[in-house]
Amino acid sequence: MNSTPPTDSLEQGSVKFELSHVSKFFGATCVLNDFTASFQESRIYALLGLSGSGKSTILRLMMRLLEPSGGQLLFRGQSLQSMDVLQLRRAIGYVLQGGGLFPHLSARDNIAIVARYLKWPPAKIRDRIDELAELMSIPHELLDRFPHALSGGQAQRMSLMRALMLDPDVLLLDEPFGALDPITRHDLQQELRPLFTRLGKLVIVVTHDLNEASILSDEAILLHQGTVVQRGTLEAFRTSPATEFVERFVEAQQAIPGGR
Ligand SMILES: Nc1ncnc2c1ncn2[C@@H]1O[C@H](COP(=O)(O)OP(=O)(O)OP(=O)(O)O)[C@@H](O)[C@H]1O
Ligand SMILES: [Mg+2]
Repeated sequence: MNSTPPTDSLEQGSVKFELSHVSKFFGATCVLNDFTASFQESRIYALLGLSGSGKSTILRLMMRLLEPSGGQLLFRGQSLQSMDVLQLRRAIGYVLQGGGLFPHLSARDNIAIVARYLKWPPAKIRDRIDELAELMSIPHELLDRFPHALSGGQAQRMSLMRALMLDPDVLLLDEPFGALDPITRHDLQQELRPLFTRLGKLVIVVTHDLNEASILSDEAILLHQGTVVQRGTLEAFRTSPATEFVERFVEAQQAIPGGR
């Protein structure tokens, strides 16, 4: 498969997010230009591109932390603009680039922050955190530490727990393993892939790393000059690159394992 055409129909119930001809300018600078992509439920996508290519901007638009300059974003067939922004954000777990834990709160308080805001009873919060700690293999004593006293890998797991707290339908992960050593990174990738599959969520992982994309995702989307240059399996990126840029992007990285 060389590239998958974007879904033009909203009748497919399984399409969760649909971005059509989205553009984003910061002042006179165009970051996204006619970006079109659809994302289906229970599928894991890698969003790839060079530094500064607009990957984080796409996730921020999906969370409505930014507004598009043009085009349309739909969530479950509904325009993002017409949705209640808090309702949208509660349906999405978001791990910011760098983790984004609040340094003045313990890990437990970081994880619980939105549930407390929503006035969940303390017992429900405690039970959910216990459940997530088990899922993420986090020993309980770490939950009462502050972020500065956690390793990068532990802090990443806490960020993921925070994103999973409300059991969202969608997970947006912005370079979730960026700061980790290669072995911790590899171990976490290997652990998370089956977890994501088991949870059955739509997951979008931003990364520059083809190896990470091949471990974690079902499908990759490569962004260049504000638009999608290729979408499909990583094997297709390698065997039939859509443009010279795709070829260079693949060549610039070490050999990648055979795509799925
Ligand atoms: N609020 C902003 N105001 C002005 N320019 C911005 C703003 N946010 C992002 N940009 C610019 O938009 C471009 C895309 O940024 P973005 O953070 O989406 O890139 P990225 O693909 O996530 O990069 P990286 O891989 O380095 O994280 C960059 O040139 C960045 O400087
Ligand atoms: Mg980024």
